[in-house]
Amino acid sequence: MAAGRLSFNNITALAPMVRVGTLPMRLLALDYGADVVYCEELIDIKMAQCHRVVNDVLETVDFVAPDDRVMFRTCEREKGNVVFQMGTADPDRALAVARLVEKDVAAVDVNMGCPKEYSTKGGMGAALLSDPDKIEAILRTLVTGVSIPVTCKIRILLALLPVAFLLAVADCVSLFRFKEERPRHPVHCDYIQAVAQAVSIPVIANGGSLDHVKTNADIEEFRRATGASSVMLARAAMWNASLFRSQGALPLEKVMEDYLKHAIQYDNNAFNTKYCLCQMLRDKVESPLGKQVQAAQTNAEISGLDAAARLPAWTKVKLCGFDVFGCRREYP
Ligand code: FNR
Repeated sequence: MAAGRLSFNNITALAPMVRVGTLPMRLLALDYGADVVYCEELIDIKMAQCHRVVNDVLETVDFVAPDDRVMFRTCEREKGNVVFQMGTADPDRALAVARLVEKDVAAVDVNMGCPKEYSTKGGMGAALLSDPDKIEAILRTLVTGVSIPVTCKIRILLALLPVAFLLAVADCVSLFRFKEERPRHPVHCDYIQAVAQAVSIPVIANGGSLDHVKTNADIEEFRRATGASSVMLARAAMWNASLFRSQGALPLEKVMEDYLKHAIQYDNNAFNTKYCLCQMLRDKVESPLGKQVQAAQTNAEISGLDAAARLPAWTKVKLCGFDVFGCRREYP
């Protein structure tokens, strides 16, 4: 690897998570010690329509859709650590998107694991697993077309079958469950180990949130158990991102407060802020604090209520009033 390129050896990463992996969560994970942070999956067709806008007010770079929605917001602080994950089934479109974000991110990743119909019906996500030629075309096009590392997130099925071509092309691969499996299924450390031994590029182990990783020390244990170069965490980090802290996890209230600071500073979409806070609250979502979060109305109220200084920041949350329970709560 050329100097300055993001390394995937011996790192801990925030895994890509739809809705969760927006800028505030990525910055939070970095604050707490994650080395690499993946953004939520963004679909190539939507990204290809975006314009890159330098936002002088927030000091961010925004990728803005024709309807003015900010699809992807990033900032200098994460530039060397953020991986842009895309959903794609088209090499040329993937390249167009990778070139659009190339100067603002540290690497691009192709999602080859999503089993949801909205992904697979367009030939994206896990559908790519049955089209090795397409995978190769996408990865080769990306690797030759951009100067930053290209990685892919795949399921074990593919890794155990025609991997040689794929792994010769990509810079790193992250692995989780079998194609047919759901989040409740245990991770297969032995399969990850077999792949890690068979290939020369870094392998990031993933899928350990339920059975393996409860504390910061468990991250290294999980890495050892899988023989992988690195570890990527999704749910465990979503529930309490301070798991990345080597000094030990922080109370949830403090994590929520830290999260909110970033959400406010970067004018995060209020619906998204509320969704992430509810994911952190988990079974406490019906507690008084959870109800307060749910009852909150607008993003503006979040910052406006800071005047009530006697209350901790997280009790001042006022966010938009969407039904968060209507949101998808588990992926995939
Ligand atoms: C995910 N996952 C996921 N994967 C991916 O490649 N792109 C994505 O956008 C998402 N979105 C997403 C959202 C949410 C809320 C969750 C919980 C998960 C899958 C995730 O990255 C990971 O592979 C699995 O969750 C298994 O890892 P853990 O949770 O056991 O650490």
